[in-house]
Amino acid sequence: MPISLLSTGRYLPPFTVGNDAFTQFLDTSDEWIVSRTGIHQRHIAQEETTTDLATKAAAQALERSGLAPEEIGLVVCATVTPDTSVPMVAANVKRGLGIERAAAFDVNANCSSFLYALAAARGMMETCGFANAIVVGADCNSQLIDWSDRSTCVLFGDGAGAVVLHRGEEAGLLSCYVDCVTDTDHVLTCHYPRKDTPFCKAGAPHNTDLYMKGSAVMRFAVKALAKAVRAAAAEAGVAVEDIAYFVPHQANLRIIQSASKLMKIPMEKFVVDIDHVANTSSGSVPVALDILNCSGQLKKGDLVCLVAFGGGLSSAASVIRV
Ligand code: ACO
Repeated sequence: MPISLLSTGRYLPPFTVGNDAFTQFLDTSDEWIVSRTGIHQRHIAQEETTTDLATKAAAQALERSGLAPEEIGLVVCATVTPDTSVPMVAANVKRGLGIERAAAFDVNANCSSFLYALAAARGMMETCGFANAIVVGADCNSQLIDWSDRSTCVLFGDGAGAVVLHRGEEAGLLSCYVDCVTDTDHVLTCHYPRKDTPFCKAGAPHNTDLYMKGSAVMRFAVKALAKAVRAAAAEAGVAVEDIAYFVPHQANLRIIQSASKLMKIPMEKFVVDIDHVANTSSGSVPVALDILNCSGQLKKGDLVCLVAFGGGLSSAASVIRV
């Protein structure tokens, strides 16, 4: 049976940080950040955790779906920054939503996580027979970045977005393309801390902050976006030109502009919120999708392409019909 999207939701923590705040502790400027990235501000979680962000976004999507908590059979959380690994964040979200029994698990494919989670949920809805599922993408990147590294810390923010999926008569989720090419040059890395055990020493410490070779990531990103869009459109059986809106991962405005140029798709078709949301990793695509959904621009039957890339080097895209 086909799968459709019933509703969307988002949550951004209320505390915002403008570019000028970085000039207090880094050699940078509002002019550099805006001209090189398109970012003016980001939301930063102060007391809240990834679980809190994810639960609030999922609760909004659930309320808008009109479904009761007990009608949800599956909760999938896409995240790179789980605040608990045991239990998984999806189990925390399930509990927070008051869902007594449902399957729950987390997905990490770095900034492509949400679209991988969407693909995983679609597969499990088909094979396990779940009628309804919640897929949420949430990250507290402020916990992952090195706040003394000016080339990464200005790029990220915290946030979460969610969708409710329904298996029924109507086809909404038309395709799920996922890919991961080997990151031979280690252009995006972040290690878990290791500790000594009674049986072995931890060895030389790894970098536990996010490390990125920015220009190499940009080169990969532009081509990966174009390839993923074409693949998802082909799988959906639609022409790229017929897609009304593109909801890309919000990593750098220049990446979106370059992809628009490469694919000859007008920028007006791209949803852009990077100016005030920045890069929220797993939250990036579903937050932008919710912004599009709430804008009133979508018409019944419109085709929308969601597309992301990230560490790994992963990429993913889906075409949905509204
Ligand atoms: N303020 C001022 N100067 C800066 C800053 C800053 N915040 N950051 C870097 N610079 C400097 C660099 O030190 C460098 O100086 P140098 O020439 O003296 O060495 C100079 O600016 C140019 O640096 P580049 O890296 O060449 O600048 P670039 O145009 O590539 O922009 C940026 C850097 C913004 C990081 C860009 O490469 C980028 O956005 N890359 C992709 C990021 C991305 O997609 N991330 C998501 C990946 S997936 C995930 O989220 C995990």
